Amino acid sequence: MHHSLTSIIRIPLFCSLMLLTPLLPAEKQAVSPDINSYFQNPDWQQWVNTFERTGREVFDKRDAIVAASGVKAGMVVADIGAGTGLFTRLFANSVGPGGKVYAVDISRPFIENILRTSREQGFVNVEGIVNSDKDASLPADAIDIAFLVDTYHHFEYPVSMLASIRRSLRTGGSLIIIDFRRDPHRSSNGVMGHGRAGKEAVIDEVTKAGFRLIDDKPLLRTNYYLLFRKPAPE
Ligand SMILES: C[S@@+](CC[C@H](N)C(=O)[O-])C[C@H]1O[C@@H](n2cnc3c(N)ncnc32)[C@H](O)[C@@H]1O
Repeated sequence: MHHSLTSIIRIPLFCSLMLLTPLLPAEKQAVSPDINSYFQNPDWQQWVNTFERTGREVFDKRDAIVAASGVKAGMVVADIGAGTGLFTRLFANSVGPGGKVYAVDISRPFIENILRTSREQGFVNVEGIVNSDKDASLPADAIDIAFLVDTYHHFEYPVSMLASIRRSLRTGGSLIIIDFRRDPHRSSNGVMGHGRAGKEAVIDEVTKAGFRLIDDKPLLRTNYYLLFRKPAPE
């Protein structure tokens, strides 16, 4: 019987993948889906009032946060866990008409409202993605900055999400994670009960996912601001 060279290569590869697949353990859920249940059928105005209010540190410092990200005109940014689009709009303004911002969220109503408000405010460079809890659903090797504010601790499957974010970034692209500091002496009970992992644990998880920590910016008081890079393949 005659086999072409490609089928000779493909058959053993297929067989080994079949053998390997059941051995890969499924990722265990890191947090209960309850943490995201509020966002599935949200009262839009209530969440605008919550996320875009004076007194919320990331709202008060929003311009400094964007300035520190290294964003430039023409870049492609993914605002992952975009919520009400507070940072989507700021990045859309920074990247300009030659750039693009993907607003990514597992909540369809949030994405629909972000697209509506972006249109109303004249932004033509915002694209919405309703993703699954395991995959950011972004194009591969296309993103300059993946930006997560108050979102990492909402990931039910952080390992899968990090792998998919890594695939979406260009080599040298940035992953920015801003999230609550957890200090038993200084953080509120709300923060201590809500967040899953503190800064050091997050650095460990993200580094294990193949990112390099570049900066731990001392910009915020109740949140940390971490900048990672996707390194070139070795
Ligand atoms: C606390 S809100 C933060 C919203 C926004 N980043 C801000 O800071 O104003 C967390 C958001 O993450 C979203 N989210 C949770 N898991 C996600 C996932 N795996 N992928 C994308 N978005 C997710 C939720 O639906 C929610 O909109």
